[in-house]
Amino acid sequence: MKPRKLKEHVYWVGAVDWDRRLFDELIPLPDGTSYNAYLVKGSEKTALIDTVDPTMANALIDNLNQLDVKNIDLVIANHAEQDHSGTLPQILKLHPNARVVATPKCKNLLMDLLLIPENKIITVEDGETLSLGDKTLEFIYAPWVHWPETMLTYLREDRILFTCDLFGSHLATSDFYVTDEATVYEAAKRYYAEIMMPFRTVIQKNLEKVKDLQIDVIAPSHGPLYDKPEFILEAYRDWVYAPPKNIVVLPYVSMHGSTEEMVKHFVGALVERGITVKQFNLAKTDIGKLAIALVDAATIVIGSPTVLVGPHPNVVYAVYLANALRPKLKFASIIGSYGWGSRMVERITEMLSNLKVELLDPVVVKGFPKEEDFRALDRLADEILDKHKEHNLTD
Ligand code: FEO
Repeated sequence: MKPRKLKEHVYWVGAVDWDRRLFDELIPLPDGTSYNAYLVKGSEKTALIDTVDPTMANALIDNLNQLDVKNIDLVIANHAEQDHSGTLPQILKLHPNARVVATPKCKNLLMDLLLIPENKIITVEDGETLSLGDKTLEFIYAPWVHWPETMLTYLREDRILFTCDLFGSHLATSDFYVTDEATVYEAAKRYYAEIMMPFRTVIQKNLEKVKDLQIDVIAPSHGPLYDKPEFILEAYRDWVYAPPKNIVVLPYVSMHGSTEEMVKHFVGALVERGITVKQFNLAKTDIGKLAIALVDAATIVIGSPTVLVGPHPNVVYAVYLANALRPKLKFASIIGSYGWGSRMVERITEMLSNLKVELLDPVVVKGFPKEEDFRALDRLADEILDKHKEHNLTD
């Protein structure tokens, strides 16, 4: 992808990675991603805002060459993670007079992760500005989106907020700005769920910090840019502040059909009571879809057979993830089966320690479920409905 003009003397110079399917060797990327870097040419100085993943260094360097950039004075490092900072060493080699601009915490990480010499890095305070001549960069600390060192950069004259990971989406697209809102909403929600949700309360403070800025464009470092910033700001406000919804998320595994039969009955019972259900067979699901569902759900019910006395390993993985992502869940329960003995409920419960949930009585059956087991599932569905009503989540 060639450089793209954002405003007068402001360009996108990043890379679109259409083929990447896994991030951090953990997170599925069904739609690829992009690493957005931006060039701002002031009347006196030129700044590069973030770089790209080292696997795509050539794309950034080609783009700078196409714009005939002879000299970079400043490289703004909003975030030290390597998908944005990993090409810094090459840029500093090509532009030996350039200085990296970062928060003090980011400076230390860049020295540790990329071995950038200390004398190459200038630190800035929260709210500090740097002049490029006719353009001014303002730095806004935004810690924990999603590392401790992160900041945003605001280009005052053009009213562009460069947010790095915040508001990003893993989406490879030829669209410069958001055109297909439904597609971007899903990708941005997946990104929020997997990356930002554990820091929800800190992100609330960061949203407060930018709420009075005049913003024409939000330019994140993954996915398309937002020329209608309210679209993503409104989405974030919903994900971060709004109470959970009348939704049960039901991740489960079944080995011989007993848990499956319970899940089928239980889902029917919840739906009859007007509760939305998001069911995920963990032997098949994209774990990102589960993360998205957790953003809004009030209740999680985990379905597991018993394997070597404990939960199925796929369930362990999903529960670990749900606990780490710290969604807004209010209630949790467990359903499942065993053959001769089980400590599955205790093991799963221990793993939910980060979640401030009320545990509703589990339904665990010996062997294949019988009539009284189905009635117990109905009672659990009744209890979930009552709890959702008590918390005004059913309106
Ligand atoms: Fe896109 Fe935290 O890096």
